[in-house]
Amino acid sequence: MREGEAAARIISGKPSTEDISLDTNLRPKRLTDFVGQEKVKGNLKIAIAAAQKRGEPLDHILLYGPPGLGKTTLAHIITAEMGVNIKVSSGPAIERPGDLAAILTNLRKGDALFLDEMHRLSRVVEEILYPAMEDYAIDIILGKGPGARNLRLNLPRFTLIGATTRYALMSPPLRDRFGVVYRLDFYDESAIKTILRRSASILGLEVEEDSYSQIACRARGTPRVANRLLKRVRDYAQVMANGVVTEPVAIEALSKLEIDHIGLDEVDHKVLHTIIQKFDCGPVGLDTVAASISEEADTIMDVYEPYLLQLGFLERTPRGRVATRLACEHLGIDHKKWQSPQASLW
Ligand SMILES: Nc1ncnc2c1ncn2[C@@H]1O[C@H](COP(=O)(O)OP(=O)(O)OP(=O)(O)O)[C@@H](O)[C@H]1O
Ligand SMILES: [Mg+2]
Repeated sequence: MREGEAAARIISGKPSTEDISLDTNLRPKRLTDFVGQEKVKGNLKIAIAAAQKRGEPLDHILLYGPPGLGKTTLAHIITAEMGVNIKVSSGPAIERPGDLAAILTNLRKGDALFLDEMHRLSRVVEEILYPAMEDYAIDIILGKGPGARNLRLNLPRFTLIGATTRYALMSPPLRDRFGVVYRLDFYDESAIKTILRRSASILGLEVEEDSYSQIACRARGTPRVANRLLKRVRDYAQVMANGVVTEPVAIEALSKLEIDHIGLDEVDHKVLHTIIQKFDCGPVGLDTVAASISEEADTIMDVYEPYLLQLGFLERTPRGRVATRLACEHLGIDHKKWQSPQASLW
């Protein structure tokens, strides 16, 4: 499956084109509006207050976690709280070292540079970042061959805010240059409900309280998915129920989306069914699973697997992925692997 298709799926954490305007309207602007992620918020508050007291820019910050959990939102909030400018770019947009050098030399003292999808930076581009992050300088080579000269350009003190969905793919020297690394986790149901209430009020929706649980349990702990589901429910309510979202209206609207009561869609089901039935619950390599169901391994890893791991339906072992007893129970499969005497002790 191509990236665009992954984004089009209702449960995908990746943004689709229709999400972009929704994202900007609903995106919290200050730390107090940012729901959940209490540990990250607590640490950030201290770091921001300390940097402001010293009158210095913040340390470089790396934000990582599955799509749709708030990395971009948080990057903008950090700069708003610091009262500094933000310049935005991303790994795939920076093709040559010169592109990054141009961005860096245009920064002013205290500015923040937000680099999204850091795991997709090429190695040659990355090498420009090392001295920039460490010494606030870049090295430019003038000329070619034996007569080439190395010119060091000083940069103003700036803060790099990096984001990635794939921490493991980032090179260790790059990771090490971040002063702090924050991992964003899936949100619990009560945080998702708070996000939904906030979104409903911004969108001017009339929503009965019980409807929120119906939406929240299908949102995969992901604010972007929650907002997307809310929007579908709103559309349905407008056409079918005078715009008021009651619990039955929410259930009816959500039942049309082909996701189950915990937010799993057809692809999640296929992944689990394949591992359980074709590969005897595993272990099996992710590439093999992807090939068996004609999906991209990257899409499964980014979009599907993190939530299945979080639910405890999948486990990653050195020999491959394993579907758990919980997964079998959810799908209503009575798998013999979980009926052996050993398994019952487990
Ligand atoms: N903590 C939060 N509180 C309220 N809303 C949130 C929160 N986190 C995210 N959102 C909502 O979810 C949307 C998606 O968040 P965001 O774009 O920051 O995710 P992301 O982690 O950058 O995703 P990607 O990996 O796709 O870039 C935001 O526009 C915002 O509306
Ligand atoms: Mg983002």
